Amino acid sequence: MDNSIKQLYTSLVEEIFRYDRAYYVDAQPAISDQDYDRLYRELLDLEASHPELITSCSPSQRVGGEPLEGFDTVQHALPMMSLDNTYSQNEVREFIDRVQKLLPNEELDWVVEPKADGIAISLRYEDGQFTVGATRGDGVSGDDVTENLRTIRSIPLHLQSITEADLPSVFEARGEVIMTRSGFEKLNSMRETDGESLFANPRNATAGSLKQLDSALVAKRPLDIVLYGNGEVIGGPLVDSQCVLFEALGKFGFRTPKHIWNCSSAEQVVAAIDELDRIRESFDYDTDGAVIKLNRFDLRDRIGVTAKAPRWAMAYKYAAEQAQTLLNSITIQVGRTGTLTPVAELEPVLLDGSTISRATLHNDEEISRKDIRVGDTVIIEKRGDVIPAVISVVKDFRLSDSKPFDILSITENRCPDCGGAIQKDREFVAWRCINHDCPAQAAQRLEHFAARTALDIECLGEIVSDKLIERNLVCSPLDLFDLTLEQLRSLNLGNADEPRTFGEKNAIKLIESVQRSRSLGLDKWLFALAIPELGRTTASLLAKFHKDFASLATSEILNNVIELDKLNERAVRVNPRSRKNKPTSESDRTERENYYTQIVDQITSRVDSLVRLGFASVTKENGYHPPNYTTEVGPSVARSVMNWFGSTIGCETLERLIELDIDPKGSEQGPSNNDRGLYAGKIFVITGTLSGMSREEAKAKIEANGGKTTTSVSKKTDYLLAGEKAGSKLQKAELLGVTVLDETAFLSQID
Ligand code: IVH
Repeated sequence: MDNSIKQLYTSLVEEIFRYDRAYYVDAQPAISDQDYDRLYRELLDLEASHPELITSCSPSQRVGGEPLEGFDTVQHALPMMSLDNTYSQNEVREFIDRVQKLLPNEELDWVVEPKADGIAISLRYEDGQFTVGATRGDGVSGDDVTENLRTIRSIPLHLQSITEADLPSVFEARGEVIMTRSGFEKLNSMRETDGESLFANPRNATAGSLKQLDSALVAKRPLDIVLYGNGEVIGGPLVDSQCVLFEALGKFGFRTPKHIWNCSSAEQVVAAIDELDRIRESFDYDTDGAVIKLNRFDLRDRIGVTAKAPRWAMAYKYAAEQAQTLLNSITIQVGRTGTLTPVAELEPVLLDGSTISRATLHNDEEISRKDIRVGDTVIIEKRGDVIPAVISVVKDFRLSDSKPFDILSITENRCPDCGGAIQKDREFVAWRCINHDCPAQAAQRLEHFAARTALDIECLGEIVSDKLIERNLVCSPLDLFDLTLEQLRSLNLGNADEPRTFGEKNAIKLIESVQRSRSLGLDKWLFALAIPELGRTTASLLAKFHKDFASLATSEILNNVIELDKLNERAVRVNPRSRKNKPTSESDRTERENYYTQIVDQITSRVDSLVRLGFASVTKENGYHPPNYTTEVGPSVARSVMNWFGSTIGCETLERLIELDIDPKGSEQGPSNNDRGLYAGKIFVITGTLSGMSREEAKAKIEANGGKTTTSVSKKTDYLLAGEKAGSKLQKAELLGVTVLDETAFLSQID
């Protein structure tokens, strides 16, 4: 091809990018609309006559493509965590003190940023090109919404303004997709004209838009983005703090928050939070709080993260929208672990775009602290999350004959569902129904067992779960394996007057997915069993460190975590240098010295063995004192898991699993131990439709053989596992000379 045409094309693309950036990122248009349209037309004409020039990075590729059938799942290279939240400035101060205590010899500085109220997203750039964009999902994996994100003009399709030497080979930018307030108003008024339903707020409109499978439609939505973080980064300029990150993001061509504060004390942080609150109304997008982050990345690494959130950041939320209404009654709900939650039944009221008729009251202690009574006029609030809460009572409107709430008098000391005994939990403030066969619990456990994030059993939602329990067809989730087609087909989901049968099709689907669950991994099974306190992240973690249920039931790792907790408590009690509890005599001191040294030794050796397994890391060696350490799973979860395995229900469940010949596997190796095996260190991409296994299964096989999977094909990809109807990824792999395996070849290799 004529080189000059190629040059002309490249310079046109670059020019349009520059103007796009000025307009969409910097909000400083640098060209008139007509001139811009003329340039754009020129580009389209050139592409029409030379289609071979078009790359996925061309500005013309932002208009959306063919609708997708569904979104692929993308595994995040680094988890997308959420943040600990607070509404109290005192807690912000406590957070700052806490971090300072963890880093006693460091002078800390903080960054305060607006908390954008949108949808979290990760954008991956490989060799400077935008390759994959994904939603947060469960933090570990999310939906591949690349095509939708490409249509957002403020997302650069390639990283800008950098020299070859400064180009990271991988750069993941993280931020929030938002809809500007003006864009939202316009969108809603158009929808009103077209007789379509209106979005309640910009956040819902953003979420709804990103979920669209038709990117051409998304291109018409006024979406925008603001970036504040990073995921995986390989190569490129040194980014070692939040302030430097913002500079780098800006240079790469991303939109970052206009206002950020760099603070060096709790007072400055609180002042910044207040200042942000005063100015945020003038922003063109919704914010619901401030995020406070430790600036330096090396210090962040030293204090680490918990299962859900980093220890080095916190979100302060500004007071949410409130409404006033009447509390008609208080009912009690029984959760899947038997917890009794009082629920406020309210006179329906409009709040933040939706009608609210129920709100959580958390537990009876909270009710007495706030002195909430039936018949009261109450203030309710929706705090970002879905469940609204009762905040306070308007005492002036209280009826003279109202009585304080007493959970025992309304429950009469019995579970409102099964009539069984209830008990106050020792560790928690909640009351709990201790009858494990309580139908309300059983139904919720069954529904949980079948959830998409657990064993993904089709056609088994709330109603079917309730009915299966009510009709005594199922008592515990494993009874699902005994259900017959006949029993299910005729299951009446209605009542005697208005019968509504479950039907053959649904029955077959349910039975098939029950059978499919046999092959799922230990992570899914563990989560599915509704062990108190065991969430999804922790379940996956435990599955990475244990081979199967049997090894978890006798877990050395968890026993070590529990023992360490006891030893640490003992160490605090006997510490001879304790200021609060000084030795009473010289001999007492010597005795305590000896005992203390022994305990420190025991702690050190237990921590050592956990560190070797990759289950703990030492945050600070303390010399004479026990080391400071963090474990992947804390003592409270560890106790709960071990108690469950020791309980009647735990033992019965394990026996049943053996009878049913179900033995789900974990990986035992720990997360980082993948340097062995056929595919050690190799990078896979999976594409197309696999017929003999699911993508999850394929991925597990690759990982079991030491390999890793990513989502986009690049020079670094070693293998492409291609199923039926493989599309652009296959083409790209062939172009780059990546080894392509079909399913049969893959299976025979690992055999
Ligand atoms: S940092 C590990 N910074 O808030 C740190 N998050 O409540 C993760 N968000 O999932 C997030 N503005 O969707 C961070 N300036 C900001 C943010 C922000 C909004 C969202 C984000 C996150 C959620 C956590």
